[in-house]
Amino acid sequence: MIVLGIESSCDETGVALYDTGRGLLAHAIHTQVAMHEAYGGVVPELASRDHIRRLIPLLDWVLAEAGAAKADIDGIAYTAGPGLAGALLVGSSFAAALAQALGVPALPVHHLEGHLLSPLLAADPPTFPFVALLVSGGHTQLMRVAGVGAYELLGESVDDAAGEAFDKTAKLLGLGYPGGPQLAELAGKGGPTGLKLPRPMLKSGDFQFSFSGLKTAVLTQVHGRTLSAQERADLAWEFQEAVTEVLTEKSVMAVRHCELDSLVVAGGVGANRRLRQRLDARAAAAGLRVYYPEVALCTDNGAMIAYCGAQRLLRGQCGAPGGAFGVRPRWPLAESSALL
Ligand code: KG4
Ligand code: ZN
Repeated sequence: MIVLGIESSCDETGVALYDTGRGLLAHAIHTQVAMHEAYGGVVPELASRDHIRRLIPLLDWVLAEAGAAKADIDGIAYTAGPGLAGALLVGSSFAAALAQALGVPALPVHHLEGHLLSPLLAADPPTFPFVALLVSGGHTQLMRVAGVGAYELLGESVDDAAGEAFDKTAKLLGLGYPGGPQLAELAGKGGPTGLKLPRPMLKSGDFQFSFSGLKTAVLTQVHGRTLSAQERADLAWEFQEAVTEVLTEKSVMAVRHCELDSLVVAGGVGANRRLRQRLDARAAAAGLRVYYPEVALCTDNGAMIAYCGAQRLLRGQCGAPGGAFGVRPRWPLAESSALL
């Protein structure tokens, strides 16, 4: 079966074709970063309009790349939430209309489930059960994953997500949007100084996180001062050390707590090289294995949505062809099996 995946929850339009027998056939992503850059963040209405412009050309491109026709599509998976309401509605109405026209089911997918299962698209995928560290712009969660649809939340951030902390701290350091990758690049030019930022909740004994205090600690360092280029790089380095240390230690703790030996890392911050370095080193010492999606599939993409939709279809978890469509801008993953 071939499933078309549509992702439009924020500022990336992703379209992909996944074949349950042959794997990922093609995927394409259009990022709106350049469009939102001038505003220092995502402008929801601009995002929605751009998704409208991009979806049909991206669909045509993936069909051509896969050597497939619309008639070959057996189901259409789309991100139903969480995300920006208008942006989600573009993807869901596109999916519902095409599903209706082709007489195939439209499959609502939870965006975080997409990230969570994206490492299963890799050439050497993990096997269930595993612990997943979900680190995106909106979420930081540790989850026990027993199988497709079986997710137990172990802990999460009580305030800012790790990606959000990267983005806000990048802004404090005068960097552009999106801040995560730019801060990581700046950190590469920095190193240790006498300054030590806090490691929030490192010793809390649970799987909760907190990153907003770290951003405030950086604010205290930059407030009313003009930092040299080297001082900014050193501060970025120390911030990245603090975030990646907490994420690494808590993840290893969670895998041990669940008496498992695999950790899966997903979401945009999973692209961070220092985080990967730390996790690999700690995991090797602890006899654990860490799995990552390929870097192109760490951030938002249609491939992970197509994959989740395919799992639904394989299990017969789909409604009638076409069917109702809806979005849930706020949608806890624990409720994702609930009907929209
Ligand atoms: O998963 P994602 O693409 O979108 C959400 O669902 O939120 O994650 C985006 C987040 C942003 O906060 C971005 O700054 C962060 O991931 N990010 C990074 C890196 N690449 C992306 N953060 C740190 N280092 C990176 N290399
Ligand atoms: Zn995402």
